[in-house]
Amino acid sequence: MARFLITSALPYINGVKHLGNLAGSMLPSDVHARFRRMQGHEVLFICATDEHGTPAELAAAEAGVDVRAYCDEQHDVQKRAGEGFRLSFDWFGRSSNPPNHRLTQHFCEVLEKNGLIEERVSRQVYSIDDGRFLPDRYVEGTCPVCAFERARGDQCDNCGSLLDPVDLKNPRSKISGSSNLEVRDTAHLFLKQGQMQDRIRAWVDAATEWPSLARSIAYKWLDEGLIDRAITRDLSWGVRVTKDGAPRPGFEEKVFYVWFDAPVEYIGATVEWAEATGNDWRRWWRTDEGAGDVTYVQVMGKDNVAFHTVSFPVTIMGSGEPWKLVDRLKAFNWVTWYGGKFSTSEKRGIFMDQALEIAPSDVWRWHLMANAPESSDAAFTLEQFQAGVNADLANVFGNFVNRITRFCAAKFDATAPGEGSETELETKLRADVAAKLAAITQHHEDMEFRKAAAETRALWALGNEYLQVAAPWTAIKTDPARAAVGVRMGLNLAALFAVVALPFIPDAATAVLDGLRVAPDKRVWPKAESAAALALVDVGQTIAPPDVLFKKIEDADVAAWSERFGAG
Ligand code: MF3
Ligand code: ZN
Repeated sequence: MARFLITSALPYINGVKHLGNLAGSMLPSDVHARFRRMQGHEVLFICATDEHGTPAELAAAEAGVDVRAYCDEQHDVQKRAGEGFRLSFDWFGRSSNPPNHRLTQHFCEVLEKNGLIEERVSRQVYSIDDGRFLPDRYVEGTCPVCAFERARGDQCDNCGSLLDPVDLKNPRSKISGSSNLEVRDTAHLFLKQGQMQDRIRAWVDAATEWPSLARSIAYKWLDEGLIDRAITRDLSWGVRVTKDGAPRPGFEEKVFYVWFDAPVEYIGATVEWAEATGNDWRRWWRTDEGAGDVTYVQVMGKDNVAFHTVSFPVTIMGSGEPWKLVDRLKAFNWVTWYGGKFSTSEKRGIFMDQALEIAPSDVWRWHLMANAPESSDAAFTLEQFQAGVNADLANVFGNFVNRITRFCAAKFDATAPGEGSETELETKLRADVAAKLAAITQHHEDMEFRKAAAETRALWALGNEYLQVAAPWTAIKTDPARAAVGVRMGLNLAALFAVVALPFIPDAATAVLDGLRVAPDKRVWPKAESAAALALVDVGQTIAPPDVLFKKIEDADVAAWSERFGAG
């Protein structure tokens, strides 16, 4: 047995996430956690809301509530959405909780002792009417490149240029609208990433287990050269800047930059979990206290990779302390929505809470993983969603389970029959099943979700092909023992199909296993070469055909949803 620490990128607090966010981090990490647990490994699966930074402050201001109250409420909303999607986090924490504050301050202090932090004075926009310095996104003005009038301090949404707020023409405060601004000197803490360049490169060179998307992004950043980075901001909501455990002079109105504290919350959330459950967090994070044998897996969208392959490792390695570093980093491209991007700020696409209003979580889980944006961006369309769900889940998996369990109920008294002996047909089937199982297992281990789903579908298809030939409904008229073999094998196939589907579609798979009365201790990941894989339903076992597992998605549903979500 091995030990797996699995973290999903932490969703920003500002609103329920869309299906693109779900498909690129939370869902695949959940599928992997479920798979590893079924293999019998010890798994700790961690997520949290990422609550600091300008997006949280701005969203709270827009909602007209205090930022802490806003975060309390949105954390609960996201927690419920995660439960609705059956995300099996061992802990869903909050970056605003005390453990993350303590740890973030600790990291800054040790980095400073190690000579990796420097206070530097820079020129920044100050709003006289607001009585404060304005972070980049709080300044709006005319773009110096394209003359767009509502460019943000950090970037122009019209021409895409990266900007410095002091370069904007006619700048004004996003808080008050005031243009009574001036540029003043102010101090910030800088993390000297440049000094860590060689150590980070050596570490990435050694990280041969990372999937290629993550490595290529890491090298792109390293090749451009690591630059020193300001890790403080002029905000009131966030982690306070300290020195020797006390407020740092000159930084009373500042907090850490959100990307400095957010990844630390992977550790912070583990501490929250440990405090709440009486567990030990150190054996997951401190290599000197038992975490040496942990495999640490991170899952995220591609825009997060630089922060996880460069910035956060600079924090961790720069501390000089024995913290666990990521072993396998899985990154995803984007899910697109009718040619464009899903967008939280523009409310484009389908959001997690809305998705559950129109279809059960399993069908979303299946579709998003079967079409995971792994080698490139993946287009989401309602038409493909309909086609995929109807074909794979309703027609292949659902139909197989339905046919065999109903036939068993009608002709064999709902009991797994023991008569008859297997023939060459079954011998070949067993070999085919073993080959598929080996492939599915390998793809899950490699975190190749699209391939794992494709092979799962191919395994299900073997069942229908087998029943086609074995045809117990015909055999029963002339050779009841032969029909019994088909039913016994069919019930065992149905059980195996469900076991293997548990990471993807936990609700439906559990319904099948409950109907087939498969004992909990048999719901473990099957070994391809073992006969136990097809011995899940005992002879003499009574079964109950499950209710319809997947309702077909009709054209009328697609039409109504297209209308509702502005598709196309
Ligand atoms: N909130 C970020 C995003 O959604 C991800 C933060 S991941 C962490 O892009 F490591 F920083 F926590
Ligand atoms: Zn512009």
